[in-house]
Amino acid sequence: MSQESAAKQNPAVDEIYHPSPDIVAQANVPDPERLREEAARDIQAYWAKRAEELEWYAPWEKVLDDSNKPFYQWFTGGKTNIVLNALDRHVRTWRRNKLALIWESEKGDLRTLSYHALNREVCKFANVLKSMGVVKGDRVTIYMPRIPETVIAMLATAKIGAIHSVVYGGFSVEALHGRIEDSESKVIITADGGNMNGKKVELKKIVDEALQRSGAPEHVVVVRHLGLDVMMEQGRDYWYHELMSLPLTRNPMRCETEVMDAEDPLFILYTSGTTGKPKAILHTHGGYSVGVHATLKDVFDLKEEDRWWCTADPGWITGHSYIVYAPLLAGATSFMYEGAPTYPYPDRWWSMIEKYGITIFYSTPTAIRGLMRFGTSWPNRHDLSSLRLLGSVGEPINPEAWRWFHKNIGKEKCPIMDTWWQTETGAFMIAPMPAMPLKPGSGTKPLPGITAEVVNEEGKPVKDGDEGFLVLKNPWPAMMRTIFKDPDRYVQTYWSKFKDFYFVGDSARRDKDGYFWIIGRVDDVIKVSGYRLGTAELESAFITHHAVAEAAVIGLPHEVKGVAIHAYLILKAGHEPGEELAEDIRKHIAHEMGPIAKPEKIEFVKTLPKTRSGKIMRRVLKARAQGMSEGDISTLEE
Ligand code: WTA
Repeated sequence: MSQESAAKQNPAVDEIYHPSPDIVAQANVPDPERLREEAARDIQAYWAKRAEELEWYAPWEKVLDDSNKPFYQWFTGGKTNIVLNALDRHVRTWRRNKLALIWESEKGDLRTLSYHALNREVCKFANVLKSMGVVKGDRVTIYMPRIPETVIAMLATAKIGAIHSVVYGGFSVEALHGRIEDSESKVIITADGGNMNGKKVELKKIVDEALQRSGAPEHVVVVRHLGLDVMMEQGRDYWYHELMSLPLTRNPMRCETEVMDAEDPLFILYTSGTTGKPKAILHTHGGYSVGVHATLKDVFDLKEEDRWWCTADPGWITGHSYIVYAPLLAGATSFMYEGAPTYPYPDRWWSMIEKYGITIFYSTPTAIRGLMRFGTSWPNRHDLSSLRLLGSVGEPINPEAWRWFHKNIGKEKCPIMDTWWQTETGAFMIAPMPAMPLKPGSGTKPLPGITAEVVNEEGKPVKDGDEGFLVLKNPWPAMMRTIFKDPDRYVQTYWSKFKDFYFVGDSARRDKDGYFWIIGRVDDVIKVSGYRLGTAELESAFITHHAVAEAAVIGLPHEVKGVAIHAYLILKAGHEPGEELAEDIRKHIAHEMGPIAKPEKIEFVKTLPKTRSGKIMRRVLKARAQGMSEGDISTLEE
């Protein structure tokens, strides 16, 4: 594609927003280009310098060990634990009195935890886990609402060297079952339920049902959050508050942090891929700490006085990296909200920005587009002047939503950091820094130490302005290390299409100024409201409905969600298509996978387009649905 037509598709290619002089003057990185050049001269030296911003029990021997590609290792020989830097080093200083977490429930209850208090709760819960026999390397599944205990559970697991697997609380029975089973978790931590948009989601009930399908874990710990009546199986299920008040050790408020190798696993996080089985992306203590800490400081210019709010859920990578770990590593104050942005009114978020004096607000295009629909009177009734920076993640932000966010929330004085990254990358990869000029809809350039390129099928760089595959050319500390229990799939998925580059799975363009524009996924992943869902996993859920014989699922553009799910279903003999059946199937999907997986549209069909080997040609369905001839489809999708 020529630059001219690229400019047509990217109306904002020449729409530039310069930062104000005071933003540049106070930025942690006042000269981003210089830092990028410095890092490019010696990438390993750059990351070593960033690693020195953290404490280590013992220094590393080697910054990067690439002797067994693509199983890269970082800071080998180094001893650490992410909790050493997230809590232990802060409680030794004045920061013990600083708020680590401010939390508001959907009903409006407030809880705050200082670094001292958070550390105490983490130590107590770490002792609980130890008393249940959890040791270094064991897996612990965390299936929770957005409450402080989620953070406590994650940190306690990490502290004792176990591996957490957080499953998003919006997922349901089958999705949870598959993830518990694959991780072989010893303990599950959940709550009686959570508030969502005025409704109570009964999480413990979902756990009970999932466990009927899996080899049961040894123990289930239940946080009493809503006061619901739940089934407690004797000998298996325990109340969190009861365990936390037991004198399990001589001093339950103290617990040594386990000394870990830099390369020891910290967590696994399941994400959808091209097969029905979700992949457990594995991250480690050392490199991940270095990556998330450096990127938060540089991109969001984090200062001691800030009040940081990332609206994501801890159950997604955005929550892991930028609600829990990076802010704590940086000793920051993080705000967390339990519920829906429109409850009870569409100004809930704006009212909390005012109430808590939030200074940096990091959210998603879907949420912004959703709130935009309610008009400007909702944000306008609040004083949002505490804000100094905004952020966006999860899907491409359309220039219209960017401009609305910039004007009505940031009052034209807050730069928007559009951060491109993935579960696999652990930390921001392509993102602005506040001192850079911005273009609405572009994540700007690869961060210092990161090299990205747009290439064709042969792995050769395409011309500026042309569309191609996005690749990352050199390893980075926060990168995933492998797929848990499936190293071959790691190599196959990410390092086979192009031998020496990391294959991202997104298509992109780079413009004449070196700015990157992400177009979308080139694999079978659908990004619904920024949530990542796999077509294969969805299709398997559809065919567990008694009336469905075959299913094909595609993503089509949607005004608010970005992409919405359309399902094409072949019914079993004896079942008649109809709205009632469609509704029943929707309910079934919500029950099995979760409400986010509910299809926008269900179409009953007699046949599905297939290749000779029987593979469903989703590309053809997509073309038909969009009224294109099959030849119009981008070759990228073939
Ligand atoms: C998409 C979320 C455009 C992209 C952190 C990527 C984005 C996938 C952006 C990863 C962005 C994420 N602009 N697209 N700023 N951020 N994406 O693993 O397709 O849930 O590959 O991680 O989200 O999704 P994941």
